[in-house]
Amino acid sequence: MQKCFYLETFGCQMNVVDSERIVSMLVEIGYQRVNSAEAADLVLLNTCSVRDKAERKVYGHLGRFKPIKDARPELIIGVGGCVAEQEGEKMLAEVPYLDLVFGTHNVHRLPELVQQAEAGHRRLSVTGFLDRETRLNLFPQRSELDGVTRFVTVMQGCDNFCSYCIVPHVRGREISRPSKDILAEVELLVAQGVREVTLLGQNVNSYGNKEPGELNFAQLVRKVAAIRGLSRLRFTTSHPKDLSDELIACFAELENLCHHLHLPVQCGSNEILKQMNRGYTREEYLETVKKLKLACPDIRLTTDVIVGFPGETEEDFQQTLDLVTEVGYADAFTFLYSRRSGTAAAELEDKVGARVKQQQFDRLLALQQENSRRIWASDLGRSVSVLVEGESRQGEGQMFGRSTWNRIVNFAGSPELLGQTVTVKITKVFRNSSLGELLPG
Ligand code: SAH
Ligand code: SF4
Ligand code: F3S
Repeated sequence: MQKCFYLETFGCQMNVVDSERIVSMLVEIGYQRVNSAEAADLVLLNTCSVRDKAERKVYGHLGRFKPIKDARPELIIGVGGCVAEQEGEKMLAEVPYLDLVFGTHNVHRLPELVQQAEAGHRRLSVTGFLDRETRLNLFPQRSELDGVTRFVTVMQGCDNFCSYCIVPHVRGREISRPSKDILAEVELLVAQGVREVTLLGQNVNSYGNKEPGELNFAQLVRKVAAIRGLSRLRFTTSHPKDLSDELIACFAELENLCHHLHLPVQCGSNEILKQMNRGYTREEYLETVKKLKLACPDIRLTTDVIVGFPGETEEDFQQTLDLVTEVGYADAFTFLYSRRSGTAAAELEDKVGARVKQQQFDRLLALQQENSRRIWASDLGRSVSVLVEGESRQGEGQMFGRSTWNRIVNFAGSPELLGQTVTVKITKVFRNSSLGELLPG
Protein backbone atom coordinates (compact mmCIF):
# COMPACT_ATOMS: atom_id res chain seq x y z
CA MET A 1 0.00 0.00 0.00
CA GLN A 2 1.21 3.52 -0.81
CA LYS A 3 2.67 5.28 2.25
CA CYS A 4 1.54 8.87 2.65
CA PHE A 5 3.00 11.94 4.34
CA TYR A 6 1.57 15.26 5.38
CA LEU A 7 3.93 18.26 5.65
CA GLU A 8 3.29 21.78 6.91
CA THR A 9 5.89 24.52 6.52
CA PHE A 10 6.22 27.66 8.66
CA GLY A 11 8.68 30.54 8.63
CA CYS A 12 10.88 31.91 5.91
CA GLN A 13 12.08 30.82 2.46
CA MET A 14 14.88 28.79 4.06
CA ASN A 15 12.23 26.45 5.37
CA VAL A 16 10.37 26.49 2.08
CA VAL A 17 13.53 25.33 0.31
CA ASP A 18 14.22 22.72 3.01
CA SER A 19 10.66 21.48 2.62
CA GLU A 20 11.12 21.05 -1.13
CA ARG A 21 14.06 18.87 -0.28
CA ILE A 22 12.05 16.91 2.31
CA VAL A 23 9.36 16.24 -0.28
CA SER A 24 11.80 14.88 -2.85
CA MET A 25 13.61 12.71 -0.29
CA LEU A 26 10.37 11.22 0.98
CA VAL A 27 9.12 10.50 -2.53
CA GLU A 28 12.38 8.67 -3.11
CA ILE A 29 11.71 6.33 -0.18
CA GLY A 30 8.21 5.54 -1.38
CA TYR A 31 6.00 8.18 0.21
CA GLN A 32 3.33 10.25 -1.49
CA ARG A 33 2.21 13.66 -0.29
CA VAL A 34 -1.37 14.11 0.95
CA ASN A 35 -3.32 17.16 2.08
CA SER A 36 -4.55 15.98 5.45
CA ALA A 37 -2.87 14.62 8.53
CA GLU A 38 -5.77 12.19 8.96
CA ALA A 39 -4.84 10.44 5.72
CA ALA A 40 -1.10 10.26 6.45
CA ASP A 41 1.28 7.63 7.85
CA LEU A 42 3.87 10.32 8.52
CA VAL A 43 3.13 13.87 9.70
CA LEU A 44 5.86 16.52 9.62
CA LEU A 45 6.08 20.14 10.72
CA ASN A 46 8.91 22.30 9.41
CA THR A 47 9.02 24.98 12.07
CA CYS A 48 10.05 28.58 12.76
CA SER A 49 11.12 30.05 16.09
CA VAL A 50 11.75 33.66 15.09
CA ARG A 51 8.98 34.91 17.38
CA ASP A 52 7.28 33.37 20.37
CA LYS A 53 3.98 33.19 18.49
CA ALA A 54 5.53 31.09 15.72
CA GLU A 55 6.97 28.73 18.29
CA ARG A 56 3.71 28.36 20.19
CA LYS A 57 1.96 27.54 16.95
CA VAL A 58 4.08 24.40 16.66
CA TYR A 59 2.83 23.08 19.97
CA GLY A 60 -0.74 23.99 18.99
CA HIS A 61 -0.43 22.02 15.76
CA LEU A 62 1.11 19.05 17.50
CA GLY A 63 -1.89 19.03 19.84
CA ARG A 64 -4.13 18.73 16.81
CA PHE A 65 -2.32 15.55 15.79
CA LYS A 66 -2.70 13.87 19.18
CA PRO A 67 -6.19 12.41 18.62
CA ILE A 68 -5.00 10.98 15.29
CA LYS A 69 -2.07 9.35 17.01
CA ASP A 70 -4.34 8.04 19.78
CA ALA A 71 -6.48 6.34 17.17
CA ARG A 72 -3.49 5.14 15.10
CA PRO A 73 -0.39 4.68 17.27
CA GLU A 74 1.68 3.60 14.24
CA LEU A 75 1.46 7.17 12.87
CA ILE A 76 4.92 8.79 12.80
CA ILE A 77 5.04 12.44 13.91
CA GLY A 78 8.18 14.51 13.28
CA VAL A 79 9.30 18.09 13.81
CA GLY A 80 12.06 19.76 11.81
CA GLY A 81 13.32 23.31 11.32
CA CYS A 82 14.26 26.02 13.77
CA VAL A 83 12.16 25.02 16.79
CA ALA A 84 13.51 21.49 16.43
CA GLU A 85 17.08 22.84 16.33
CA GLN A 86 16.48 25.02 19.35
CA GLU A 87 14.63 22.54 21.54
CA GLY A 88 16.10 19.21 20.44
CA GLU A 89 15.41 16.36 22.87
CA LYS A 90 13.48 18.68 25.15
CA MET A 91 10.69 18.50 22.58
CA LEU A 92 10.49 14.74 22.96
CA ALA A 93 10.18 15.18 26.70
CA GLU A 94 7.48 17.79 26.32
CA VAL A 95 5.43 16.02 23.66
CA PRO A 96 5.15 12.34 24.61
CA TYR A 97 3.60 11.32 21.29
CA LEU A 98 6.33 12.94 19.17
CA ASP A 99 8.57 10.47 17.31
CA LEU A 100 11.23 12.47 15.46
CA VAL A 101 13.08 15.75 15.95
CA PHE A 102 15.50 16.86 13.23
CA GLY A 103 17.39 20.15 13.29
CA THR A 104 18.24 22.59 10.50
CA HIS A 105 21.60 20.97 9.69
CA ASN A 106 20.16 17.46 9.66
CA VAL A 107 17.37 17.63 7.11
CA HIS A 108 19.32 15.17 4.92
CA ARG A 109 18.99 12.52 7.64
CA LEU A 110 15.21 12.47 7.53
CA PRO A 111 14.83 9.37 5.28
CA GLU A 112 17.05 7.36 7.60
CA LEU A 113 15.10 8.56 10.66
CA VAL A 114 11.76 7.74 9.04
CA GLN A 115 12.97 4.26 8.17
CA GLN A 116 14.12 3.72 11.74
CA ALA A 117 10.75 4.89 13.01
CA GLU A 118 8.99 2.52 10.60
CA ALA A 119 11.07 -0.29 12.11
CA GLY A 120 9.84 0.66 15.57
CA HIS A 121 12.74 2.84 16.74
CA ARG A 122 10.99 6.00 17.79
CA ARG A 123 11.68 9.04 19.96
CA LEU A 124 14.78 10.03 17.96
CA SER A 125 16.39 13.47 17.93
CA VAL A 126 19.23 14.76 15.73
CA THR A 127 20.35 18.36 16.14
CA GLY A 128 23.62 20.31 16.27
CA PHE A 129 25.65 22.06 13.60
CA LEU A 130 27.77 20.35 10.98
CA ASP A 131 31.26 21.41 9.97
CA ARG A 132 31.82 23.52 6.90
CA GLU A 133 32.96 20.76 4.55
CA THR A 134 29.99 18.53 5.29
CA ARG A 135 27.63 21.46 4.87
CA LEU A 136 29.12 22.46 1.54
CA ASN A 137 28.48 18.95 0.26
CA LEU A 138 24.90 19.10 1.45
CA PHE A 139 23.90 22.42 -0.10
CA PRO A 140 20.32 22.28 -1.34
CA GLN A 141 20.27 21.27 -4.95
CA ARG A 142 17.65 21.80 -7.55
CA SER A 143 14.67 19.51 -6.99
CA GLU A 144 12.24 18.40 -9.67
CA LEU A 145 9.55 21.03 -9.54
CA ASP A 146 7.51 22.83 -12.16
CA GLY A 147 7.10 26.54 -12.39
CA VAL A 148 8.74 29.52 -14.00
CA THR A 149 10.15 31.05 -10.80
CA ARG A 150 12.55 29.38 -8.39
CA PHE A 151 14.60 30.12 -5.29
CA VAL A 152 18.28 29.25 -5.51
CA THR A 153 20.11 29.10 -2.19
CA VAL A 154 23.46 30.89 -2.41
CA MET A 155 24.37 31.06 1.24
CA GLN A 156 23.10 29.78 4.55
CA GLY A 157 23.34 30.85 8.16
CA CYS A 158 24.07 34.22 9.69
CA ASP A 159 27.03 35.78 11.50
CA ASN A 160 25.37 39.05 12.40
CA PHE A 161 23.90 38.24 15.78
CA CYS A 162 21.39 41.06 15.86
CA SER A 163 20.67 41.11 19.56
CA TYR A 164 16.99 40.17 19.26
CA CYS A 165 17.36 37.39 16.71
CA ILE A 166 17.37 33.63 17.13
CA VAL A 167 18.35 32.84 13.53
CA PRO A 168 22.16 32.61 14.05
CA HIS A 169 21.47 30.31 16.98
CA VAL A 170 19.28 27.94 15.02
CA ARG A 171 20.86 28.10 11.57
CA GLY A 172 24.55 28.34 12.41
CA ARG A 173 27.32 30.40 10.85
CA GLU A 174 27.34 31.81 7.34
CA ILE A 175 28.51 29.59 4.56
CA SER A 176 28.53 30.40 0.84
CA ARG A 177 27.97 27.90 -1.89
CA PRO A 178 30.59 27.81 -4.68
CA SER A 179 29.60 30.24 -7.43
CA LYS A 180 30.26 27.68 -10.16
CA ASP A 181 27.57 25.42 -8.65
CA ILE A 182 25.12 28.32 -8.42
CA LEU A 183 25.71 29.32 -12.05
CA ALA A 184 25.41 25.72 -13.22
CA GLU A 185 22.14 25.34 -11.35
CA VAL A 186 20.64 28.51 -12.78
CA GLU A 187 21.68 27.47 -16.30
CA LEU A 188 19.99 24.13 -15.84
CA LEU A 189 16.84 25.73 -14.44
CA VAL A 190 16.63 28.12 -17.36
CA ALA A 191 17.07 25.22 -19.80
CA GLN A 192 14.11 23.58 -18.06
CA GLY A 193 11.85 26.59 -18.49
CA VAL A 194 12.49 28.66 -15.36
CA ARG A 195 12.43 32.37 -16.23
CA GLU A 196 13.02 34.05 -12.87
CA VAL A 197 15.32 33.10 -10.03
CA THR A 198 15.60 34.61 -6.58
CA LEU A 199 19.04 34.17 -5.03
CA LEU A 200 18.36 33.23 -1.45
CA GLY A 201 20.18 33.53 1.85
CA GLN A 202 19.74 35.01 5.35
CA ASN A 203 22.20 37.67 4.37
CA VAL A 204 22.86 37.36 0.63
CA ASN A 205 24.99 40.43 0.22
CA SER A 206 27.74 39.06 2.44
CA TYR A 207 27.98 36.19 -0.04
CA GLY A 208 31.56 35.03 -0.59
CA ASN A 209 33.07 37.26 2.07
CA LYS A 210 34.44 34.30 4.01
CA GLU A 211 35.61 32.31 1.00
CA PRO A 212 39.03 33.35 -0.33
CA GLY A 213 39.02 33.67 -4.11
CA GLU A 214 35.22 33.53 -4.37
CA LEU A 215 33.17 36.14 -6.23
CA ASN A 216 31.56 38.83 -4.12
CA PHE A 217 27.78 39.13 -4.24
CA ALA A 218 27.68 41.91 -6.85
CA GLN A 219 29.93 39.85 -9.11
CA LEU A 220 27.72 36.81 -8.61
CA VAL A 221 24.62 38.84 -9.47
CA ARG A 222 26.23 40.06 -12.68
CA LYS A 223 27.19 36.54 -13.74
CA VAL A 224 23.75 35.13 -12.99
CA ALA A 225 22.07 38.05 -14.80
CA ALA A 226 24.16 37.28 -17.89
CA ILE A 227 22.75 33.76 -18.21
CA ARG A 228 20.94 33.69 -21.50
CA GLY A 229 17.18 33.12 -21.25
CA LEU A 230 16.86 34.35 -17.66
CA SER A 231 14.14 37.01 -17.88
CA ARG A 232 14.35 38.14 -14.29
CA LEU A 233 16.56 38.05 -11.25
CA ARG A 234 15.88 38.93 -7.61
CA PHE A 235 17.72 38.36 -4.35
CA THR A 236 16.78 38.32 -0.71
CA THR A 237 17.48 39.10 2.15
CA SER A 238 19.95 41.96 2.09
CA HIS A 239 21.52 43.48 5.18
CA PRO A 240 21.83 47.28 4.90
CA LYS A 241 25.36 47.29 6.29
CA ASP A 242 26.61 45.03 3.47
CA LEU A 243 24.89 46.70 0.54
CA SER A 244 27.88 47.79 -1.53
CA ASP A 245 28.00 50.54 -4.14
CA GLU A 246 28.93 47.83 -6.60
CA LEU A 247 25.66 46.03 -5.85
CA ILE A 248 23.66 49.25 -6.03
CA ALA A 249 25.15 49.87 -9.48
CA CYS A 250 23.69 46.52 -10.61
CA PHE A 251 20.20 48.03 -10.33
CA ALA A 252 21.18 50.68 -12.85
CA GLU A 253 23.03 48.39 -15.20
CA LEU A 254 21.38 44.99 -15.31
CA GLU A 255 18.24 44.90 -17.39
CA ASN A 256 16.84 41.72 -15.85
CA LEU A 257 17.46 42.65 -12.21
CA CYS A 258 14.01 43.50 -10.80
CA HIS A 259 13.37 46.96 -9.40
CA HIS A 260 12.50 45.77 -5.92
CA LEU A 261 14.64 45.40 -2.84
CA HIS A 262 13.72 44.13 0.59
CA LEU A 263 15.94 46.09 2.95
CA PRO A 264 15.04 45.46 6.59
CA VAL A 265 15.60 48.59 8.67
CA GLN A 266 14.18 47.28 11.99
CA CYS A 267 14.16 50.71 13.65
CA GLY A 268 14.73 54.40 12.93
CA SER A 269 16.55 55.34 16.13
CA ASN A 270 20.33 55.20 16.33
CA GLU A 271 20.29 54.32 20.01
CA ILE A 272 18.06 51.30 19.41
CA LEU A 273 19.89 50.29 16.23
CA LYS A 274 23.03 50.16 18.34
CA GLN A 275 21.30 48.09 21.00
CA MET A 276 20.06 45.81 18.25
CA ASN A 277 23.65 45.39 17.00
CA ARG A 278 22.58 46.21 13.45
CA GLY A 279 25.87 47.75 12.38
CA TYR A 280 24.49 50.89 10.69
CA THR A 281 23.03 54.22 11.70
CA ARG A 282 19.80 55.80 10.56
CA GLU A 283 21.84 58.24 8.45
CA GLU A 284 23.81 55.44 6.77
CA TYR A 285 20.61 53.58 5.99
CA LEU A 286 19.00 56.69 4.47
CA GLU A 287 22.15 57.34 2.45
CA THR A 288 21.95 53.81 1.03
CA VAL A 289 18.31 54.37 0.12
CA LYS A 290 19.26 57.62 -1.59
CA LYS A 291 21.90 55.88 -3.67
CA LEU A 292 19.46 53.14 -4.63
CA LYS A 293 16.86 55.67 -5.78
CA LEU A 294 19.50 57.54 -7.73
CA ALA A 295 20.70 54.36 -9.45
CA CYS A 296 17.16 53.14 -10.09
CA PRO A 297 14.53 55.89 -9.80
CA ASP A 298 11.51 53.57 -9.92
CA ILE A 299 12.87 51.05 -7.40
CA ARG A 300 10.37 50.03 -4.73
CA LEU A 301 11.59 49.11 -1.30
CA THR A 302 10.08 46.90 1.33
CA THR A 303 11.26 46.42 4.89
CA ASP A 304 10.92 44.76 8.28
CA VAL A 305 10.35 46.79 11.44
CA ILE A 306 10.37 45.69 15.06
CA VAL A 307 8.29 47.68 17.54
CA GLY A 308 8.88 47.57 21.29
CA PHE A 309 12.53 46.59 21.54
CA PRO A 310 13.62 46.76 25.22
CA GLY A 311 14.32 50.36 26.19
CA GLU A 312 12.67 51.87 23.12
CA THR A 313 11.07 55.17 24.05
CA GLU A 314 8.28 57.09 22.37
CA GLU A 315 10.97 59.36 20.85
CA ASP A 316 12.79 56.37 19.40
CA PHE A 317 9.55 55.09 17.99
CA GLN A 318 8.76 58.50 16.50
CA GLN A 319 12.05 58.28 14.62
CA THR A 320 10.93 54.98 13.13
CA LEU A 321 7.69 56.60 11.95
CA ASP A 322 9.69 59.48 10.44
CA LEU A 323 12.04 57.12 8.65
CA VAL A 324 9.17 55.03 7.30
CA THR A 325 7.58 58.20 5.94
CA GLU A 326 10.84 59.46 4.48
CA VAL A 327 11.74 56.22 2.67
CA GLY A 328 8.19 55.56 1.45
CA TYR A 329 8.20 51.78 1.53
CA ALA A 330 5.88 49.97 -0.84
CA ASP A 331 5.27 47.40 1.90
CA ALA A 332 6.55 46.66 5.37
CA PHE A 333 6.41 43.66 7.64
CA THR A 334 5.90 44.97 11.14
CA PHE A 335 6.54 42.89 14.24
CA LEU A 336 6.12 43.33 17.95
CA TYR A 337 9.41 42.55 19.65
CA SER A 338 9.42 39.02 20.96
CA ARG A 339 11.92 37.99 23.59
CA ARG A 340 13.95 34.98 22.43
CA SER A 341 15.78 33.18 25.15
CA GLY A 342 19.48 32.74 24.40
CA THR A 343 19.73 36.04 22.49
CA ALA A 344 21.61 39.05 23.87
CA ALA A 345 18.50 41.25 24.05
CA ALA A 346 16.74 38.69 26.23
CA GLU A 347 18.88 40.00 29.08
CA LEU A 348 17.83 43.64 28.63
CA GLU A 349 15.37 45.23 30.96
CA ASP A 350 12.02 45.98 29.37
CA LYS A 351 9.92 48.59 31.12
CA VAL A 352 7.43 49.57 28.45
CA GLY A 353 4.03 47.95 28.88
CA ALA A 354 2.36 45.73 26.31
CA ARG A 355 -0.45 48.21 25.77
CA VAL A 356 1.88 51.04 24.80
CA LYS A 357 3.73 48.75 22.41
CA GLN A 358 0.50 47.58 20.84
CA GLN A 359 -0.62 51.18 20.32
CA GLN A 360 2.69 52.04 18.69
CA PHE A 361 2.42 48.96 16.52
CA ASP A 362 -1.07 50.01 15.41
CA ARG A 363 0.13 53.53 14.58
CA LEU A 364 2.97 52.18 12.47
CA LEU A 365 0.67 49.75 10.71
CA ALA A 366 -1.83 52.51 9.89
CA LEU A 367 0.92 54.74 8.52
CA GLN A 368 2.37 51.96 6.38
CA GLN A 369 -1.01 50.85 5.08
CA GLU A 370 -1.69 54.35 3.89
CA ASN A 371 1.77 54.56 2.26
CA SER A 372 1.28 51.20 0.56
CA ARG A 373 -2.17 52.14 -0.65
CA ARG A 374 -0.88 55.37 -2.16
CA ILE A 375 2.12 53.78 -3.86
CA TRP A 376 0.21 50.87 -5.39
CA ALA A 377 -2.67 53.15 -6.40
CA SER A 378 -0.19 55.18 -8.43
CA ASP A 379 -0.02 52.21 -10.82
CA LEU A 380 -3.65 52.71 -11.92
CA GLY A 381 -3.78 53.17 -15.67
CA ARG A 382 -0.10 52.33 -16.04
CA SER A 383 1.24 49.58 -18.28
CA VAL A 384 3.47 47.20 -16.38
CA SER A 385 5.56 44.29 -17.45
CA VAL A 386 4.43 40.99 -15.89
CA LEU A 387 6.13 37.60 -15.93
CA VAL A 388 3.26 35.10 -16.20
CA GLU A 389 3.56 32.49 -13.47
CA GLY A 390 0.35 30.49 -13.60
CA GLU A 391 -3.40 30.31 -13.58
CA SER A 392 -4.95 32.72 -11.14
CA ARG A 393 -7.00 31.68 -8.16
CA GLN A 394 -9.49 34.34 -9.25
CA GLY A 395 -11.16 31.88 -11.60
CA GLU A 396 -11.14 30.39 -15.06
CA GLY A 397 -9.57 32.36 -17.87
CA GLN A 398 -7.51 34.37 -15.38
CA MET A 399 -3.75 34.25 -15.22
CA PHE A 400 -1.39 35.79 -12.69
CA GLY A 401 2.17 36.97 -12.58
CA ARG A 402 4.25 39.61 -10.85
CA SER A 403 5.46 43.02 -11.80
CA THR A 404 9.10 44.00 -11.42
CA TRP A 405 8.11 45.30 -7.95
CA ASN A 406 7.08 41.81 -6.87
CA ARG A 407 3.41 42.74 -6.93
CA ILE A 408 0.86 40.06 -7.88
CA VAL A 409 -1.08 41.07 -11.00
CA ASN A 410 -4.15 39.13 -12.16
CA PHE A 411 -5.52 39.48 -15.69
CA ALA A 412 -7.68 37.66 -18.24
CA GLY A 413 -5.42 35.46 -20.35
CA SER A 414 -4.71 31.93 -21.43
CA PRO A 415 -2.26 29.31 -20.11
CA GLU A 416 -0.09 29.56 -23.24
CA LEU A 417 1.25 32.78 -21.78
CA LEU A 418 3.00 30.88 -18.97
CA GLY A 419 6.64 31.94 -18.71
CA GLN A 420 6.21 34.91 -21.04
CA THR A 421 6.73 38.51 -20.08
CA VAL A 422 3.60 40.42 -21.07
CA THR A 423 2.36 43.99 -20.73
CA VAL A 424 -0.66 44.55 -18.51
CA LYS A 425 -2.52 47.79 -17.98
CA ILE A 426 -3.49 48.13 -14.32
CA THR A 427 -7.24 48.73 -13.90
CA LYS A 428 -7.83 48.01 -10.23
CA VAL A 429 -5.66 47.95 -7.13
CA PHE A 430 -6.38 45.87 -4.03
CA ARG A 431 -4.41 45.61 -0.83
CA ASN A 432 -2.23 42.68 -1.85
CA SER A 433 -2.67 42.41 -5.58
CA SER A 434 -3.63 44.35 -8.68
CA LEU A 435 -5.92 43.60 -11.58
CA GLY A 436 -5.22 44.50 -15.18
CA GLU A 437 -5.91 44.03 -18.88
CA LEU A 438 -3.50 42.25 -21.14
CA LEU A 439 -2.21 44.58 -23.83
CA PRO A 440 -1.33 43.23 -27.25
CA GLY A 441 2.37 42.40 -27.27
N1 SAH B 1 17.78 37.44 7.64
C1 SAH B 1 16.72 38.28 7.45
C2 SAH B 1 15.43 37.84 8.13
C3 SAH B 1 15.45 37.50 9.55
S1 SAH B 1 13.96 37.10 10.33
C4 SAH B 1 17.16 39.65 7.86
O1 SAH B 1 18.19 39.83 8.42
O2 SAH B 1 16.45 40.57 7.57
C5 SAH B 1 12.79 38.20 9.61
C6 SAH B 1 12.41 39.36 10.44
O3 SAH B 1 11.86 38.95 11.67
C7 SAH B 1 13.54 40.27 10.84
O4 SAH B 1 13.91 41.13 9.82
C8 SAH B 1 12.96 40.98 12.03
O5 SAH B 1 12.26 42.14 11.65
C9 SAH B 1 11.98 39.99 12.60
N2 SAH B 1 12.44 39.45 13.87
C10 SAH B 1 13.54 38.71 14.10
N3 SAH B 1 13.65 38.43 15.42
C11 SAH B 1 12.60 39.02 16.04
C12 SAH B 1 12.17 39.11 17.39
N4 SAH B 1 12.85 38.55 18.36
N5 SAH B 1 11.03 39.80 17.66
C13 SAH B 1 10.33 40.39 16.66
N6 SAH B 1 10.70 40.34 15.37
C14 SAH B 1 11.82 39.68 15.05
FE1 SF4 C 1 18.66 37.73 12.33
FE2 SF4 C 1 20.11 39.90 12.03
FE3 SF4 C 1 20.94 37.60 10.97
FE4 SF4 C 1 18.81 38.83 9.96
S1 SF4 C 1 20.92 39.62 9.98
S2 SF4 C 1 18.99 36.67 10.42
S3 SF4 C 1 17.86 39.75 11.73
S4 SF4 C 1 20.75 38.05 13.14
FE1 F3S D 1 12.01 31.24 11.16
FE2 F3S D 1 14.12 29.76 11.04
FE3 F3S D 1 13.47 31.25 9.00
S1 F3S D 1 13.50 30.94 12.76
S2 F3S D 1 12.43 32.98 9.93
S3 F3S D 1 12.30 29.58 9.77
S4 F3S D 1 15.51 30.76 9.67
